[in-house]
Amino acid sequence: MELALETRALRKTFGDLVAVDGIDLAVPRGSFYGFLGPNGAGKSTTIKCLTGLLEATSGATRILDIDPAVDPIGVKQRVGVVPEDLALFERLTGAETLSFVGRVHGLAPAALRERARDLLELMSLAQAAGDLVADYSHGMRKKLALAAALLPAPRLLFLDEPFEGVDAVASRQIKELLSRFVQGGGTVFLTSHILEIVERLCDHLGVIHRGKLVAQGPMADLRAGTGVGKTLEAIFLELVGAEKASLPAMEWLRSAATSSSASRASRASSRRRSSSCLSAPPPSFSAPSASTPGGTSGRREPRRAPSCSSPASSSSSSSPCRSSSRSAARRKDRRPARRD
Ligand SMILES: Nc1ncnc2c1ncn2[C@@H]1O[C@H](COP(=O)(O)OP(=O)(O)OP(=O)(O)O)[C@@H](O)[C@H]1O
Ligand SMILES: [Mg+2]
Repeated sequence: MELALETRALRKTFGDLVAVDGIDLAVPRGSFYGFLGPNGAGKSTTIKCLTGLLEATSGATRILDIDPAVDPIGVKQRVGVVPEDLALFERLTGAETLSFVGRVHGLAPAALRERARDLLELMSLAQAAGDLVADYSHGMRKKLALAAALLPAPRLLFLDEPFEGVDAVASRQIKELLSRFVQGGGTVFLTSHILEIVERLCDHLGVIHRGKLVAQGPMADLRAGTGVGKTLEAIFLELVGAEKASLPAMEWLRSAATSSSASRASRASSRRRSSSCLSAPPPSFSAPSASTPGGTSGRREPRRAPSCSSPASSSSSSSPCRSSSRSAARRKDRRPARRD
């Protein structure tokens, strides 16, 4: 089997912490490889070591038959990356970002224009192409980073949670595009916590837990080895030993919920009292006629807060009248700010 990516005893430590603990990855060419693991398992660190964003502590790597330690530029020319923290230039526009990436990769101007146009359209970013990246939303940045990774038409794509924060429309388009990319001979190495997406897209799986690779192989073999009819979620939870994890009792949360529902009920009853007070018009209030808006004179009567007859309620802090004046104050707050 021809491999797009292979590691031997890849290890990365941060001081005493072993983030990646001697893993042997085998990613076949033309596969859609899902790299799963709980938070902090070592997925992003692995991707950073494989793409040259971090230096591995030890171990060997081959990417598309190239040793990145010998020819790092050769690897970068053939590989696209969407890293965890995106690393975009804030002061470039979306269009400038793609133009910059295309020129670094030596694309001819006509090819660059065509690819940038297609990608911006695919990601629904054409309208925002002239806006600064600094003004992009989280999802827009993610889509732009993915467009930049795809622009040079790489043979291997590393995608660290590419669907996180991306809307359903773009997500569907991206899934379709990535499937086509793999059908065309490309390889995708993907991390995602969205197991439905992994289940739908990936044909190979690797599971990392506390820095160690606990399972790897074709999705079908993994399924066959773990019992019939299990969902990927069930398989994953079993592999990382979390299938029997149960919630602590957290009585404090239950009592908080109970007290908050009690206080909701008390607020509702106080609103009911307040509205019954409001519904009784003060003696000076005359109902507007149906034919003339605002009253018989045609002039709109200024709204007055009804006076409350109960002395107890007018002085009490829980007075429904006070709550109606509070909502009047809230209404006032909502008025547009005056421009000086
Ligand atoms: N630059 C760093 N310095 C120190 N420790 C780090 C550094 N980067 C990652 N770590 C630690 O390495 C471990 C693995 O982190 P990593 O980001 O690879 O996890 P992950 O599997 O990508 O998690 P997530 O699903 O939350 O993204 C964690 O314990 C993390 O705190
Ligand atoms: Mg991560």
